[in-house]
Amino acid sequence: MRAHARWRSRRPLRTRLALVTSAAAALVTLGVCAAGFTIIRYELVHQLDLTLTQHATLVQQQYRGQGPQVVYGECGYLAAPACTQIVPASPAADPPRPYLLPVTPATRQVAAGQRGAYFDGITVSGHPARMLTTPFGTGQAVQVALRSDAVQKGITQAGELMAVVAGAGILLAGGLGYAVARTGLAPVARLTATAERIAATRDAGVRIDLPAGRGEDEVTRLARTFNTMLGALEESVTAQRRLVADASHELRTPLTALRTNAELLAKSDRLTDSQRSRATAGLQRQLREVTGLVNDLIELARDEEPQALVESVRLGGLLEHSVDTARGHWPEIEFLSVMTGDPTVRGVPARLSRLFANLLDNAAKFSPPGGPVEITLHDGPELTVRDHGPGIAPEDLPYVFDRFYRASAARALPGSGLGLAMARQIARAHHAELTAEAAPGGGALFRLRFT
Ligand SMILES: Nc1ncnc2c1ncn2[C@@H]1O[C@H](COP(=O)(O)OP(=O)(O)OP(=O)(O)O)[C@@H](O)[C@H]1O
Ligand SMILES: [Mg+2]
Repeated sequence: MRAHARWRSRRPLRTRLALVTSAAAALVTLGVCAAGFTIIRYELVHQLDLTLTQHATLVQQQYRGQGPQVVYGECGYLAAPACTQIVPASPAADPPRPYLLPVTPATRQVAAGQRGAYFDGITVSGHPARMLTTPFGTGQAVQVALRSDAVQKGITQAGELMAVVAGAGILLAGGLGYAVARTGLAPVARLTATAERIAATRDAGVRIDLPAGRGEDEVTRLARTFNTMLGALEESVTAQRRLVADASHELRTPLTALRTNAELLAKSDRLTDSQRSRATAGLQRQLREVTGLVNDLIELARDEEPQALVESVRLGGLLEHSVDTARGHWPEIEFLSVMTGDPTVRGVPARLSRLFANLLDNAAKFSPPGGPVEITLHDGPELTVRDHGPGIAPEDLPYVFDRFYRASAARALPGSGLGLAMARQIARAHHAELTAEAAPGGGALFRLRFT
């Protein structure tokens, strides 16, 4: 197991793949060659055995009823007929002429009928030969032998040929394995190179080139996912940069006004009482604005609701409380709320209050004196806030949720354009959808729908 892990960690994937592919191809080549050699050898020997069997049958027919004897003795010549002898079970009955083929106890056993016919590889006069010993009549055996030089040579040649083929096959397998690993892993190598480049340059704008017109293989899918991930990363980096740029831009104006007032107050001995109190009031107001702006920015920079604060929230109670607070802030506006049911959602109460406050604050801010601002809550859960102010122009509608966006009509009123951006962010974190629309009969209508 540990050796396996070491092999995996030490060698690059390409080498491993090349080795495994080559080994598999080499194994197949070796197997095929070995099987081919076995078949050729069997066929060659089998042919010789058939000839011997035919010859033995012929001898059995021709010499029926005759006693032990040496039939053909010219075993040494290549072209000679099969060397043949008839052997008795008992050595006492042996013919006077000496045998040319080896007579063993096994031969006597065949003659005595104690053993079946068998083939044997022997050497006759220094030449390789194959011999068949088979029962003949009663108490005798026929032995026939043929020189097997040609067969032996054939087998050796076949063996050599197969060895050469196997060697070439293994070399080819090695080459193929390397080529397969190289081409197969080329897209992965490209992917790795891109990932390494991004890691080195921290440039999320780089993308992997997707091969045009190629099918959806695993690597292409991985590359596509990787590109999607890079897109998301780039978007998030850009959004962060924009937030910082927007924030510093937005902070510059109130800070300049603050500095002007502060400088003015530094020379307070030269100011009249009314000028001084105007400057003090302005300073305080601008400080409040900057503080609010900074707080909003901090809230916006947060992404997710902290899990520890998530609880079951009764929307009715929370909304009631927010409306009461808004009534305190905007005594001249009439807030009318209609609540059917008391839906409950999972969320962070302080953040949801913030969302409601932003909607109520906008409605009151843009309402004509007296209002009214109408609020409804019903099961779904769905909440609407509607006012009777100027409403949102259709061309502004797509942008009101953008950070720092304020319609030109709203520039005269206090605000920084962060309220709705924050409201939508809170809504999303609570799996809710916040939308704006034109209310029938004029005014703006904001709808918060939980899913
Ligand atoms: N009830 C509404 N009626 C008409 N216009 C609205 C209404 N609510 C929002 N808007 C438009 O959408 C813009 C963005 O609203 P948002 O609440 O984000 O910013 P703001 O109220 O101007 O500033 P902040 O909320 O940061 O003090 C507003 O400037 C205004 O143009
Ligand atoms: Mg607002």
